[in-house]
Amino acid sequence: MDTLNHDPKNQSVDLSINPDIRQAYTLPTEIYKDAELFEKSKDSIFAKTWQCIGLKSLTPTAGNVQPFVMLNGFLGEPLVLSRDNDDELHCLSNVCTHRGNLMVHEAGPCRDLVCRYHGRRFDLKGKFKSMPEFKEAENFPSEEDHLPSLPLHNLGDLLFTSLDPAVDFEKAVAPIRERVGWMPLESFQYSAEHSQVYEVQAHWALYVDNFLEGFHLPFVHPALSKSLSYSDYGYEIFDYCNLQLGVGKPDETVFDLPEGHPDYGKRIRAFYFWLFPNIMLNYYPWGLSLNLIEPISPTHTKIRFETFLWKEELFDPRSQDLLHVTEMEDEEVVEAVQAGVRSRLYKRGRFSPKMEPAVHHFHSLISKFMK
Ligand code: FES
Ligand SMILES: [Fe+2]
Repeated sequence: MDTLNHDPKNQSVDLSINPDIRQAYTLPTEIYKDAELFEKSKDSIFAKTWQCIGLKSLTPTAGNVQPFVMLNGFLGEPLVLSRDNDDELHCLSNVCTHRGNLMVHEAGPCRDLVCRYHGRRFDLKGKFKSMPEFKEAENFPSEEDHLPSLPLHNLGDLLFTSLDPAVDFEKAVAPIRERVGWMPLESFQYSAEHSQVYEVQAHWALYVDNFLEGFHLPFVHPALSKSLSYSDYGYEIFDYCNLQLGVGKPDETVFDLPEGHPDYGKRIRAFYFWLFPNIMLNYYPWGLSLNLIEPISPTHTKIRFETFLWKEELFDPRSQDLLHVTEMEDEEVVEAVQAGVRSRLYKRGRFSPKMEPAVHHFHSLISKFMK
């Protein structure tokens, strides 16, 4: 069995997950409480996967730049979006290749990226242009002197990048495109009014565990349960994402699916997609509720609920109240589990093969990436 030595006393934590859910155990509680594992997850999981960094429609126009920090307070990676005069968008490191000064501090027009420390200059593609007092330097400039550039991809208007991708973006999101790509995702309108940020006093993976099963619906969400048919609730597992299919009860607003759609004929109320490790894309007949899970510490997580409207006439503000009530119910139970996993008497559990295949999928991916 694979083990992971994480402790100077040479104790090891076995993070392996049996691929057969009928025999599998959940991840051991160390994953939720060990500070070193939390730290390791930054490079092993978050730097290697795709992060949503904003909207394509809000990126800088030609000749402009916009600095930002990827997963601020966690990865804290300083990056800058720039659009060159050929109208090409770039996601660059915002750290000078000389001695590491932060380059861009403000969004706005920019001819060249110029470091304020010793004057190194880059073009908007991140290419090194000039540097004072370096005439005698040998093998200079080299490839390493350009600003590192990250890949950019989009799903609808959502823009994604990755520091060190272990997974092909298109391959990862292909099941999402197949299921919801028939909607005009690019034209979904962001609604700041209906978006909000929640904070939960729990490890990020406990929040994700909870999202990935509808098992708790009748126990934790009495109101939401009235609109979803528990017996029809379905799970589909893909490589780096999974889907929970919410089937509506008879008088619920459901999708009008095009003929030939894999779910044509079913009363789909929601496609709940999760993209490993921390992105939830909940597509409803009215649009999208995007949930971005941002770890802060092993006991503190920020959750951004970003709302995008498609068919505004189907958007019932009461559904936002229901989302809020559901979120409060979820936070309460996730915080109770946070207290529970600190117990000396609880080590790990088992999965319901019928209702927890997506949680098993998540634990298997953590296990794979943390090895
Ligand atoms: S750190 Fe940027 S020029 Fe020296
Ligand atoms: Fe829930």
